[in-house]
Order: sequence, then C-alpha cells, then structure tokens
Amino acid sequence: MRRIAAVAGIAAASLVLAACSGGSDKAAGGDASGSGGGDEVEVFTWWAQGSEKAGLDALVDVFGQQHGDVKFVNGAVAGGAGSAAKDLLQSRLQAGDPPDTFQAHAGKELTDYINAAQLEDISSLYDEFKLRDAFPQDLVDLLTVDGKIYSIPSNIHRSNVVWANPAVLEEAGVDPAAVPADIDAWLADLEKVKATGKTPLSVATTWTQVNLLETVLMADLGAEAYNGLWDGSTDWKGAEVTAALEDFQKLMSYTNADRDGLDWPEATQMVIDGNAAYNVMGDWAVAAFEEQDKARGTDFVDFPVPGSDSMFGFLADSFTLPVGAPHPDGAKAWLETVGSLEGQTAFNKAKGSIPARTDAKPSDFSEYQQSAIEAYGKDSIVPSLAHGAATPVAVLNAISDATSKFTTGASDLAAYQQDLAKAVAGS
Ligand code: GAL
Repeated sequence: MRRIAAVAGIAAASLVLAACSGGSDKAAGGDASGSGGGDEVEVFTWWAQGSEKAGLDALVDVFGQQHGDVKFVNGAVAGGAGSAAKDLLQSRLQAGDPPDTFQAHAGKELTDYINAAQLEDISSLYDEFKLRDAFPQDLVDLLTVDGKIYSIPSNIHRSNVVWANPAVLEEAGVDPAAVPADIDAWLADLEKVKATGKTPLSVATTWTQVNLLETVLMADLGAEAYNGLWDGSTDWKGAEVTAALEDFQKLMSYTNADRDGLDWPEATQMVIDGNAAYNVMGDWAVAAFEEQDKARGTDFVDFPVPGSDSMFGFLADSFTLPVGAPHPDGAKAWLETVGSLEGQTAFNKAKGSIPARTDAKPSDFSEYQQSAIEAYGKDSIVPSLAHGAATPVAVLNAISDATSKFTTGASDLAAYQQDLAKAVAGS
C-alpha cells in the first residue's frame, strides 16, 4: 500500500501567484499547446554538479538513445533544493521567457505553478506514452488539478535520513550499529562526538537547516501532528512546537560554524571524509557516498532521524510543459524519456531516489534504495517542507527567512516560533 493521502489532502490550492505568462518573444519555435520546435529542448533543473549532475547525465544518455534527433540544452542552475533556480525560474516565467521544461516538486509547489497558469495540461501525454497506470494514483493526484495532469514524475526522495561515519562514531565511543531511539538519545551521542574535537553534526546553508528542522518536527510531533502543521490543526504557537524548536536549537549548537557558506555536498562530504560524525540530508546524499565508492555498513551508515523512523519524509521531482515553451515537441520528447521505464531506471540508479514507476524492478537498485522502496511501502508518508511538498513557495521562503534569522542569532527562540507561525498563517 502506498500512502500519500496525507500529502494529497494538503495539496489543495491555497496560493495564487501573480500570473503573467504573456509577451513571449520566443514563441517562434512553436505553440506550447500545439507542436513545433522538435529540434531541441532546454531542460531547467538545479542538478548542476556532482552526484546530482551524474543523475541528470544518466537521464540525458537515455534521452540520446530514445530521441537522438533532439538536442539537449542544459539549463541547470546550481544551488541545492533549487535555492537559486526557483527565483530565476519565476523571473523567466513572469517575463514570458520559459524554458521548454522545468523541474518542479509534486505537491504545493507544483500547485503554485498550476494556479498561476504557467503550465500546460499534459493529460494527453499520459495516454500517448501509456502512463495512466505507471505511477501510484496518489502521486498522480499531487500532479493533478481539476482532473488535469500537469507534470510527469521522475523520482521519489526521502528527506528524513541521517548519514553517519562509523569510524568517527567509534572514536567517540558511540556504537555505529545502535540507532538512537529519539532526539534526546541522539543529543547524548552528539555530546560524545564533541569531546573528540570533530564536528558532531554537519549542516550547510539555510535550506539544509530547514531540511533539518522539518525532520525534528516529524520526530518530536509524530506523523499526525506534523501533518497538522500544514492543514491548520496543529498550533504553531503551542508547547509541542516550542519543545521541537528547542531540540532544533540544541542540534544546531553541534554544527559547523562555517555552515552558511556551504551547500549540501560540502556538508555531506564532511561525513564522507571523517571530519563530521553525522549529517541530516535527503537521500540524494547516498549518491555522493556511492559515487566515491563508499560502502554502506562499513564506510557509512544511515538511519531515519531518531524519532521519525515510522515516517517517510516525502518529496518527488517532476517535469512540466510550461505555457509558451519555445520547443514543445522537444519538451514532449524529454517528458517521454522521463516517464519511460528505461529513463526512470537509469536516472534513479544514479540519483539515489526510488523510481516513481511501480513496474521498476527493486533488484536494479542499490541496497539503500531497496530499503527506501520498502519504507515507502509501509511508513506514514509525510510531506517535506524544504522540498515543495508541504507548502507553497511563498510560505517556504518565509520559513527559510525566519530560520536564517534564528540560526544567525538575529532572533531568539520565542521570536522564531512567532515568525514561523506568521509565515504559515500568511499562506
Ligand atoms: C531537492 C530535489 C532533489 C535534490 C535536492 C538537492 O529539492 O528534489 O532531487 O536535487 O533538492 O539539491
């Protein structure tokens, strides 16, 4: 049983961005709702470097095999979680200068683009490419508004994973095989690592701190109350949120001081290199370990953030056909590859995610990925905040600003909690 019902329930439209998709001066190649421009495709992502680029490259290889006549134009903009790409994309969409296709997260983030009339309905491609039964229905529901489907999913990632270096743990007297039961037990282990002089918990710039925050909220509140944060049934000003924010504050006190100058690959690398014991990161991190020939169980261990082990922090990337795309036929060719079994298998093997297609063979994937497939089948699926599933982009931006203010010392815990409550209430 795949359960994304919790996410689907909160995927209802709540924010309409100011839409402005007219005035394209690039429409000469064709009409997005029609055809044309099949000679190339500009693909806009934030998979610009390292293991993320390796994932994209694997997909581009399959694209070359399936559509050798269409030139792939890489529109990737560096910055994990789309931290730079999403703003740039929004400016391009507002200026009527869309790429031919772009990466968007299933859930509230995609709903933003749909409500702003920036995306074409691509339901007919689901028939043409025979995708109607390829994906779990509840995932398709997250890509659908009023019966129209607006994107094709490429993968599913998990956000609430701890990556750890066993040698660093052993040096600190922490048993790498023993997973802490909750955040309190984990804090005790972090204290032991601190005594060795190594960084207990590596983290990077703001979005990775928000990724950490969401996992602490999952761990301390549990699935139901965590989901309630996004549908209004959990009070952001309440005592259980205060307690979770206190845990977040304690965890942040064990992190590297240079965090705001780093992106996720550098923070994860600290664990790979044995300079830090733990890193909390979505499971694209596994691709960084594997790319460097690190073996699961010996060179690294992974476990759900303590206290969140029955939850799967859900996010999915998907690809779209923007209104006014200059090369709609090129985009359709790309979307066909994204949805294909060959495309999903090659891409996800390299990316660390699990395929969105239900007919992909688990045995084609790594041991970690097989464990993620299993967890996805049995855990409570809860929406990721940092990766577009839980909130519209504007709310995530406000939460990110509040978090940065707090972790740079410009606000105290009480003010942080108020800022968060305001950020969500403003949606
Ligand atoms: C997420 C995205 C993942 C991965 C990650 C780090 O938002 O869904 O595929 O790229 O950012 O950049």
